[in-house]
Amino acid sequence: MPHVQTVRWVGGADGCLRLVDQTRLPAEFAEIECRDVQTLWEAIRALRVRGAPAIGVAAAYGVCLGIQAARDADEDAFFRRLDEAVDYLASSRPTAVNLFWALERMKRTALALRGSAGPGEITEAILTEAKAIHEEDRRMCRAIGRHGAELLADGQGVLTHCNAGGLATADYGTALGVIYAAAESGKRLHVFADETRPLLQGARLTAWELHQHDIDVTLICDSMAAQVMREGRVQAVLTGADRIAANGDAANKIGTYGLAVLAAAHDIPFYIAAPTSTFDLAIADGGLIPIEQRDPAEITHGFGRPTAPDGIHVYNPAFDVTPARLLRAIVCERGVIEPVTAERIAAVVGENEGRKPQMNADKRR
Ligand code: MRU
Repeated sequence: MPHVQTVRWVGGADGCLRLVDQTRLPAEFAEIECRDVQTLWEAIRALRVRGAPAIGVAAAYGVCLGIQAARDADEDAFFRRLDEAVDYLASSRPTAVNLFWALERMKRTALALRGSAGPGEITEAILTEAKAIHEEDRRMCRAIGRHGAELLADGQGVLTHCNAGGLATADYGTALGVIYAAAESGKRLHVFADETRPLLQGARLTAWELHQHDIDVTLICDSMAAQVMREGRVQAVLTGADRIAANGDAANKIGTYGLAVLAAAHDIPFYIAAPTSTFDLAIADGGLIPIEQRDPAEITHGFGRPTAPDGIHVYNPAFDVTPARLLRAIVCERGVIEPVTAERIAAVVGENEGRKPQMNADKRR
């Protein structure tokens, strides 16, 4: 399998972060270099790096970038700089909880050493923590793949939405990780990739990624999903998630909820694949998940060209919430959560893992 490193740290504590610039795919495979936290913030906001787990990994390294200039400072100045970097990165995108999870973990690592180690040593320790988050994501995706592959049968058609592949994670993917693992175990699947309006992550990224991996994939417009289901071409729908509430309601790319409704109408199981870092047990249900609103120009000027009348009103939520009752199962690195209930989630994900430390409300949105 070709190996794409979505996010990679180059060098030691004074190093830099390199990201595959996903806005340029599939036309061009290019990396960007982030040497400061502002460049990374822009990369997250502009979706150069995107997908919940990849945003978390990138933000963890972002904290390392943020404190580089303060490693020789006194302790107070160092921690002020750390807080600024964490708060600033937390303001880049609101929905994917992995971002806040990773930032809190970085902050906790630094605070645990306050008083016993100097800024230089803490700088080294938080780079080690960012690398651990990165490596854990790799392992979580492989485990999700192994558990989820059991749910798919040889010869099935599988519909997916947006991109929950290697590009959205450290390197293997969540929903696409399940497809890769099923293919590696000898199952022949046919994947339908929704193009995913308005930014076409399905067309630009998922179709590209599956093609690179020699997976049989057919691209469809979002509006074709119902017809493709009615024709009996789809036996499972499988997506990732950006935030899963304690009751199993799951936020994912806009259009996912509609697909879940369609799947229910056609009696097709709908699965979500996501690591435990995507659960937010502090949120009782999906109504409390902050939904990112994006620039109307993404709809009126698709990729630069006017596609709507000047001055038209536009509503552009980037995510929607699929109610737990429409989910057959959620696959995480610890196994398959089925049925999707608050009790099962608490039992599998656990209080400590899924409960995100509360950053203040402004920073979470
Ligand atoms: O706006 P994006 O491209 O970051 O949205 C990404 C998604 O909705 C993915 O499906 C989700 O993050 C799961 S990634 C494994």
